[in-house]
Amino acid sequence: MTLLDIKDLSAFYGKTQALFDCSFAVEEGEFVALLGSNGAGKTTLLRAISGLLPFKGSIFYAGRSLEWIAAQKRLGLGIAQIPQGRGTFSEFTVDENLQLGATIISSRSQIRQDKERWYETFPRLRERRDQLAGNLSGGEQQMLAVARALMSRPKLLMCDEPSLGLAPSITQEILAIFKTLHRDHGMTLLVVEQNVDITLQYADKAFVIEAGQIVAGGAASDLINNEDIKKSYLGVA
Ligand SMILES: Nc1ncnc2c1ncn2[C@@H]1O[C@H](COP(=O)(O)OP(=O)(O)OP(=O)(O)O)[C@@H](O)[C@H]1O
Ligand SMILES: [Mg+2]
Repeated sequence: MTLLDIKDLSAFYGKTQALFDCSFAVEEGEFVALLGSNGAGKTTLLRAISGLLPFKGSIFYAGRSLEWIAAQKRLGLGIAQIPQGRGTFSEFTVDENLQLGATIISSRSQIRQDKERWYETFPRLRERRDQLAGNLSGGEQQMLAVARALMSRPKLLMCDEPSLGLAPSITQEILAIFKTLHRDHGMTLLVVEQNVDITLQYADKAFVIEAGQIVAGGAASDLINNEDIKKSYLGVA
């Protein structure tokens, strides 16, 4: 089933147009990467999907138009976005951050089980559960941002540049966790990245955005060998 179906999506900041008729689809259970250079429109696209920015065109999620659905309601429908720069609450502990991620879940036992499950996946967070998020390393903060988003029980998890400021080995670790979420928990992932080669090793499919337009797309295994696309749009030498 198509989980996310985007057609002719345009978005504006005041009078400035940032997205131009973008169309692409994400199937349920897929791990999709959205690649593009600085200022291409990646964050804008995620914001339109999660409800932080109005759009023209259409976004269908599980067959339902998102046009009139507010951001908080979209979270309730299973759409979670991990913002660029992580957005964890630095003055709260790791455990409190997870709790804050579960505000839309009413069952305490469910929250307890979910915490346990994600502490299992991220053992370093369990070790640091009582530490302030602001004192974690960059990689740990990104893991916390992912775990916090998971606490809302999303179907579609969107993550904006998880690798920002992280060493390649940590980036690899985080992408491997996404792969596990996708494989073992059936989660659908839309991950924005500039780290083209590493990301294409983990994703099923990728789209390339350039100057607000989707300019290429296909199976990650094909794109990884497509030197033309990498050179033209992604700044890979
Ligand atoms: N709040 C805003 N007000 C006005 N213009 C904006 C705003 N946010 C982004 N833009 C513009 O929209 C375009 C797309 O920006 P966006 O943040 O989506 O790019 P990006 O692909 O996420 O880049 P990066 O990799 O640097 O995060 C850019 O030209 C940017 O200057
Ligand atoms: Mg961005």
